Amino acid sequence: MENNKRPESMQRITTPELANAFIDEQIAAVRAQVGSSKVLLALSGGVDSSVVAALLIKAIGRQLVCVHVNHGLMRKGESEQVIEVFRNQLDANLIYIDATDRFLDKLENVSDPEKKRHIIGEEFIHVFDEEARKQEGIDFLAQGTIYPDIIESKGVKAHHNVGGLPEGLSFQLVEPIKLLYKDEVRMVGVALGLPAAMVYRQPFPGPGLGVRCLGAITRDRLHALREADAIVREEFDKNGLTEKVWQFFAVVPDMRSTGVRDGKRAFDWPVILRAVNTVDAMTATVPELPWNVLETITQRILAEVPGVCRVLYDLSPKPIATIEWE
Ligand code: XMP
Repeated sequence: MENNKRPESMQRITTPELANAFIDEQIAAVRAQVGSSKVLLALSGGVDSSVVAALLIKAIGRQLVCVHVNHGLMRKGESEQVIEVFRNQLDANLIYIDATDRFLDKLENVSDPEKKRHIIGEEFIHVFDEEARKQEGIDFLAQGTIYPDIIESKGVKAHHNVGGLPEGLSFQLVEPIKLLYKDEVRMVGVALGLPAAMVYRQPFPGPGLGVRCLGAITRDRLHALREADAIVREEFDKNGLTEKVWQFFAVVPDMRSTGVRDGKRAFDWPVILRAVNTVDAMTATVPELPWNVLETITQRILAEVPGVCRVLYDLSPKPIATIEWE
């Protein structure tokens, strides 16, 4: 517990120089800790695990074994970006596992949100555990624990995050950013040369699109959600809204409504657009988005996404509504 407390004397990382000094310090510490052993890391592509990966690649190169599990609930292009940045640009020792079918098969006909979360979390541990057992010479497990995780969740990486520690595997932990606040993690990420899109990525729940494809997930509705979400992100980027809005995404409920397509009656899904501003995700307000952006998003989704006939904008603040729909 002692070394889980941020010393009062620890300087806040607010400049690239301080970030570089932190990186040098951690490189030395990690090398001293792991020696010539191998270190395993579940690399989701989120800010924290990406920064840990980039830091450890600098410290121990291919002694770090990154495992990226694609649970089939990632946003469009996300796993591809992890592969591009870590395998192609940083020469990481990266194992990519496409476990889409495993997850979607397990989730078939499951509509209860908590059951869905539980299945996704449990399956993730199974997949990661299976992979870990195939590796030889691994003594350490790296984790992207950050200081708020320690303060808020007794050291457990965000309690509802996907990716706990597989039981029965005994690793020593490597947690190089565990005393950092989020803004400091981002500062270190930039200093390590990670792309801005990764470092400033908006929060994305561990269960991913699984909690935004409401009710029992089907592949066609998940496809519609992924495409609609990509359009929303693209239009936010184009219109300078990505930096102004804290979190924004699409949701596809498990219901249909009537539309007309090519002169024929259609019975298709709505897409709900959700955008919020918040400081700590405990309360949230809904930003007033420019009408022309809402119109463009609507027109594009209706024209480009199969199976969708309506677009809605959710105006509900938190509380009473939560940010996610499930
Ligand atoms: P809610 O919906 O509770 O969301 O207002 C608050 C913040 O937490 C994120 N969230 C999750 N993150 N696993 C996660 O890692 C989850 O199961 C989960 N559920 C919600 C949500 O995206 C928002 O930023």
